[in-house]
Amino acid sequence: MPARETLLRCPVCASSAAPESSEFECSCGELYDVEHAFGPLDRALFDSRPRSLRAPGDSGVWRYRELVDPDLDPAAVVSLCEGNTPLYDAPDLARFAGLAAVGIKHEGLNPTGSFKDRGMTAAVSRARAAGARHAICASTGNTAASMAAFAARAGMAATVVVPDGAVAWGKLSQALAYGAHVLMVRGDFDAAMGLVREEARAGRVALLNSANPFRVEGQKTIVLEVLQQLAWDAPDWIVFPAGNLGNCAAFGKALREALALGLIERVPRLAAVQAAGAAPFATAYDNGFERYEPVVADTLATAIRIGAPVSYARGVRSLKETRGVALAVTDDEILAAKVAVDRAGLGAEPASCAALAGARRLVRDGRMAPTERVVCVLTGNLLKDPDTTRAFHEGRLAGHPAPPERIRTIDADQRALRMALEGV
Ligand code: F0G
Repeated sequence: MPARETLLRCPVCASSAAPESSEFECSCGELYDVEHAFGPLDRALFDSRPRSLRAPGDSGVWRYRELVDPDLDPAAVVSLCEGNTPLYDAPDLARFAGLAAVGIKHEGLNPTGSFKDRGMTAAVSRARAAGARHAICASTGNTAASMAAFAARAGMAATVVVPDGAVAWGKLSQALAYGAHVLMVRGDFDAAMGLVREEARAGRVALLNSANPFRVEGQKTIVLEVLQQLAWDAPDWIVFPAGNLGNCAAFGKALREALALGLIERVPRLAAVQAAGAAPFATAYDNGFERYEPVVADTLATAIRIGAPVSYARGVRSLKETRGVALAVTDDEILAAKVAVDRAGLGAEPASCAALAGARRLVRDGRMAPTERVVCVLTGNLLKDPDTTRAFHEGRLAGHPAPPERIRTIDADQRALRMALEGV
């Protein structure tokens, strides 16, 4: 294991900073990446690691600790046994997308119900080790829930700053329950993000958004775990919903490092899927990344209602290095995919289902071949956004008629039950 070789490095001007720095932005304006000096690593190391029944050995993040944070003292790890999520085979969803087969990586089965736990264990561990006492984030909800839980675990205070009226209650109730201070901003996510970044620059609070490069290190393990689950035989595509582009940054970095270390022989193509009302990245992709204009975002997939993604430059790099694509899908396409995901027994919140909607669109447009090996990442649990599920089933979503009635109230007698069972 290398001794204290982790640095923060600017990908644009190559200047560096100490990993303990609370400044995540280089003076040239770009976000730092974490740079490790990896020793020799091979697949056998990760394959031979038994699943321990105790934290942090049972974490699907810290199983890859040499790739996540080799310098961190294992005693400093703050873990909730995150990761180790299933990669499901889903024939119904393959049919929905027009593919022969599809793998569904369900990150909604993390401890707080989203992929955020993977980045949070890495970043909160670092923050606590550096002596931070107060964690802060802007959030569309899932980061808030995850940070609140890990801060509670770490004995740190937590403040989450969220757009007023635009966060699903499943998420907000988690943040409250885990003890965070919840500040509802009269503004959107992008405004909240600007506020917390400015506050973090003053150094009084630790920023736990994906501008924090250790978040990105933890989120790399989504891809590493998929690769290991596929016996290191990389798929052709990895498709995922994209908002602030933290995952896009993390997935590209994971693949770059896995290739350089010889863990994989070839790199899958990344497909970053945005909601049409919040698609500055997809628009920029369409013009060859020549122009980039933030937008005022609007979509029913509130998790990705983001108009000015913080990791834009990292996202561009990830797509360029993987022959990746960015695309936008409408809210109707997202909802159709959600119905399919839910009915397949997997279930996910709306934003997550943009991944499957994106795969379907790529197949329809002839950009993805039906025989290609595709993994879609579901990022958040069905229970995160019960309001949207309920509104859909009650026919209260504009443009979406209610599906056949499935909730009925009956008298408590046998005849009523028998009658209700007829025709099911
Ligand atoms: N899916 C879900 C369920 C999310 O919560 C998010 C982001 C994304 C996808 C997009 O990921 O930002 O890495 O491109 N949620 C953040 C939050 C912004 O505050 O919870 P990204």
